[in-house]
Amino acid sequence: MNLILIGFGNVGRALTYILWEKGDRLKGLKLNINVTGIFKSDGGFIDHNGLKLGEILEKGKQHQSWVPEASPLSYIAELPCDVVIEMTPTNVKNGEPGVSFIRKALEEGKDVVTSNKGPLVVSMKELLSLADKKGCFFFYEATVGAAIPIFTVAREFLKHDRILCIEGILNGTTNYILSRMSEDKVSFDDALREAQEMGYAEADPTYDVEGIDAACKLVILANGLMNMNKHLSDVEIEGISRVTPEMIELAEEEGYLVKHIAYLDEEKMEVAPRLVPKNSPLTVGGTFNVITINTELSGSLTFIGKGAGPRETASAILADVITIANKRGGIKSG
Ligand SMILES: NC(=O)c1ccc[n+]([C@@H]2O[C@H](COP(=O)([O-])OP(=O)(O)OC[C@H]3O[C@@H](n4cnc5c(N)ncnc54)[C@H](OP(=O)(O)O)[C@@H]3O)[C@@H](O)[C@H]2O)c1
Repeated sequence: MNLILIGFGNVGRALTYILWEKGDRLKGLKLNINVTGIFKSDGGFIDHNGLKLGEILEKGKQHQSWVPEASPLSYIAELPCDVVIEMTPTNVKNGEPGVSFIRKALEEGKDVVTSNKGPLVVSMKELLSLADKKGCFFFYEATVGAAIPIFTVAREFLKHDRILCIEGILNGTTNYILSRMSEDKVSFDDALREAQEMGYAEADPTYDVEGIDAACKLVILANGLMNMNKHLSDVEIEGISRVTPEMIELAEEEGYLVKHIAYLDEEKMEVAPRLVPKNSPLTVGGTFNVITINTELSGSLTFIGKGAGPRETASAILADVITIANKRGGIKSG
């Protein structure tokens, strides 16, 4: 199976490393993976016969396969490729450059896997219907909750069921801040500074703290799991910057924790600080994410996991690739 990787940042490098490190395990699954292109913003590593991943991780642009200025748009059709993996930065305004890469890949009949929320928040229905028209798979497990296999579970195990509502904590940074404020009586500003120092929060934390990241994920859950056609503007969003230590203390006295909850049903989509009973499965701490789906037949199902991290995200991407290989008949059991 030939892959093109677009993006060689935290996630792209982690995926390259796993493909290199776990090559033997993948061969044990009868999955013979060959990467023919890896692209950055200013060029790409290219080899029609398959790149030597260990050498690229070690030498970077000094490697002989590096082609300055090479753009994925010119190579997607040309290189041997079954699946395009799109891992460029999230842009929730117009989805670029991810939308153009995914559109081009699908137009060329390639299956696509992405970890990038931007194209889904902006153009999910368009891209899914293009994939359908072209007979391609377009998977995006890594975009919500990293390695939490929420879309796979729904697609493979809940076909017969109906999801009525979804709630959860979809952003590790805000959960970390609220957990520190609650468990260790740290102030909001100090908890945020800690999150930045530990690499959980960006230098500009607005996207996380004001709930935009969680709202983007809620849009993807709505469209991906409940067959809706929602946009970011459909989500009522309130961040956590107005949560005070006094609110947290008062809540605790009554047996509650303050959590930044994303909620979705047929009528309503919102992200806001909410009181959650201390014994609820939604009270995960630290940078963990949690997603509960309430269904008509299966009842309530809850998934907990690390919602970010290059390795976890790359693992979800690889799981999508393996699913595609399976569906294309590329992995034989036994
Ligand atoms: N990090 C996580 O834990 C995590 C978790 C879940 C989802 N995600 C999502 O996964 C995606 C990748 O995340 P990341 O942390 O790996 O980001 P990153 O470190 O910023 O890497 C982005 C990569 O995309 C490349 N790129 C940017 N514009 C490009 C273009 N026009 N053509 C080709 N390549 C281009 C960059 O090239 P240069 O190397 O030249 O800069 C870089 O290699 C993002 O959408 C992110 O939101 C990340």
